Amino acid sequence: VLPTDSKGQGVTKSPGADDATFPSSAYGTWVSEVMLQQTQVERVVAYWTEWMRLFPTVKDLAEASPDAVNAAWAGLGFYGRARRLHEGAKYLVAEHAGVVPDSLEQLLRIPGVGPYTAGAIASIAFGQPAALVDGNVIRVFARLRALAGDSASAVLSRRCWALAHELVDLEQPGSFNQALMELGATVCTPQAPACSRCPLQVLCLARRMVADGKAAAVTDF
Ligand code: ADE
Repeated sequence: VLPTDSKGQGVTKSPGADDATFPSSAYGTWVSEVMLQQTQVERVVAYWTEWMRLFPTVKDLAEASPDAVNAAWAGLGFYGRARRLHEGAKYLVAEHAGVVPDSLEQLLRIPGVGPYTAGAIASIAFGQPAALVDGNVIRVFARLRALAGDSASAVLSRRCWALAHELVDLEQPGSFNQALMELGATVCTPQAPACSRCPLQVLCLARRMVADGKAAAVTDF
């Protein structure tokens, strides 16, 4: 449940923030993670803020019309994401009294919530040691451990999920997962990674292989 101000409006926090100032809203985390799946953080912020104003709780979203939901999503693209959020909200109202569950198992039963979103909600909103892997994490791990395979490969994806389970910080899983994604988005980028300012540079096998002449470039991973 979102904290409310004197007008009863949901008080919002920025997407992904897990500081001590605001209690995490699992619903807000869910919305932000779905928005962030195919859209840059900078673009998501305004959409997320407006969405949380229009639909401050799971119940508000569940009761909204498909047209209102689509209108709030307009411009973000991939409208299936909005439809699935809406369906998920209806499911939660029907099955969970509108409360976002905190267990991975129950999160995965929400229509439209897959392993990534479930891991994100569990770790970011509930502080559970849940793993997550997205495209950015695959690239970071592939370089860190010099794993072969293109990013769409099922074998590579499985190895990355295993590694994510192994590495996730048990004290601060939400921050760990978000830092990993952020590293992939801002430092360990697809084309011109900024290895010289990467906090993992001394641990990175791809970088070592390049230095040893065993690989042509970090971007080969
Ligand atoms: N990409 C998707 N979700 C993210 C998050 N919570 N933090 C950083 N990057 C992300």
